[in-house]
Amino acid sequence: INGPDGSLEKVILHGEDSSLVEIYLFGATITSWKSQGKERLFLSKQAKLDGSKAIRGGIPLVFPQFGPGELPQHGFARTRKWSLIGTKKHGSGVIAQFELTENADTLASKWPYRFVLRYTVTMTKNTLSTIIEYENNDTRKFSFTSLMHTYFRVPSIDHTVVGGLKDSQYADKVKQTTNEVELRDDITIAANEDRVYENVPGVVDVRYGGERVTIKRFNFKDIVLWNPWAEKAQEMSDFGNTEYKEMVCVEVGTVAKKIELRPGQTFSCGQLLTVETADN
Ligand code: BG6
Repeated sequence: INGPDGSLEKVILHGEDSSLVEIYLFGATITSWKSQGKERLFLSKQAKLDGSKAIRGGIPLVFPQFGPGELPQHGFARTRKWSLIGTKKHGSGVIAQFELTENADTLASKWPYRFVLRYTVTMTKNTLSTIIEYENNDTRKFSFTSLMHTYFRVPSIDHTVVGGLKDSQYADKVKQTTNEVELRDDITIAANEDRVYENVPGVVDVRYGGERVTIKRFNFKDIVLWNPWAEKAQEMSDFGNTEYKEMVCVEVGTVAKKIELRPGQTFSCGQLLTVETADN
């Protein structure tokens, strides 16, 4: 519902064990996921929640363009208002579904196709699954890149490890190099990092304070690892100067090569986040 102050509409799902997920219709952006008594996603204290800018934190959806290009950075899906199709309970889980189609602005853009995106968010007490289905409703084939830009909340970046990327090839957007190979099992971050790992084969995880959040994917090939660190943080108007200490972005997507769909064709991609603690 729209707040009296004109704030944006959001959907809040409550699940077992006080688990919770909050999703703004603006961008279908998940801004909060509480599981095992803790907030698992980072949302900047300076995030704009009035529709004036993509939301800085949570899980913004990038489509149909990752990064800079002919369209605004990261495409238009994260700054469009999505429709809520419905919410329901399913077993021990709770589900919300959203949809986005073209509008006059996107038809007049550099990506002028008719499409449907269907986004399904499912939460159980330890898991959050986000699945997106892309449908080509146009008479022409089209291609795109897409990504789920997950901002993980971590107690301290110094004591956070990202695993599962060893042996993957990556492009380093800070150093502007390509075809490097990751040699580490466990990655710790201590600088501005912006890397696109290509064709990552297995499960990736984020570990902190004796806990582990696993990231399983289907049909998304690549992983982006991003933390702006101090200097880059200062350049962002909607990100606190020291907030880089509390977050790491581990983003699942297909961005190194485009996904191509024929007229009428659909394709689904998704991620499953699971919180593993000593108790479960
Ligand atoms: C990451 C990109 O996915 O998103 C970075 O790899 C970019 O290059 C970051 O800086 C944030 O982008 P934005 O548009 O939300 O500031």
